[in-house]
Amino acid sequence: MKKYIVLYSSRTGNTKKIAEAICSALPAGTPCRSIDEAPTDLNGYDCLFIGFWVDRGTADQQTQQLLRQLSHPHIALFATLGADPCSQHAADSLRNASALCPGENPLVHSFICQGKVDPQLIEQMKRMFPPGHPHAVDEKREAIHEEAKKHPNEADVAAAKVFAAETVKRVENM
Ligand SMILES: Cc1cc2nc3c(=O)[nH]c(=O)nc-3n(C[C@H](O)[C@H](O)[C@H](O)COP(=O)(O)O)c2cc1C
Repeated sequence: MKKYIVLYSSRTGNTKKIAEAICSALPAGTPCRSIDEAPTDLNGYDCLFIGFWVDRGTADQQTQQLLRQLSHPHIALFATLGADPCSQHAADSLRNASALCPGENPLVHSFICQGKVDPQLIEQMKRMFPPGHPHAVDEKREAIHEEAKKHPNEADVAAAKVFAAETVKRVENM
């Protein structure tokens, strides 16, 4: 049987929740670790699931560091973000993160869903960005933050498990 590992970075728990859902859909005994606790040698795994929280349109710093130094042929990326997961911003964030991986197109599959935004960040944005600024917390952004408060929800968890199962199928057929 192929071997997998789930590694994630999570400040406030959203990405960790998705990491655990993914792990629950992988073969029993698959490790699920925070990136701080990643094994130094990842060569024994057939595919690495790597999860990040979106930070200014790409992976958070800790995940960036890991992705840049990886040389693994099979990577499945997953992420959570405050914005609409169907937005161009979400697609760009995944693409920006995957572009950090060295090697010939190692991305096997990817998944992204919404996650609640730290209220402190929202307050900071309100103070920093005046009305009319592209990052101002206007009505539209407030609505996105309200929706984000409900995520990751059960549907996100179920979709993450489907993503894990699909990834396994792809890896098994490689
Ligand atoms: C410093 C900072 C920058 C962020 N940048 C973005 C961003 O560019 N786009 C976005 O949609 N969400 C952004 N977010 C929201 C987080 O990606 C989102 O809340 C995520 O689910 C947090 O995951 P975690 O609970 O695993 O830390 C940012 C959050 C923080 C704290």
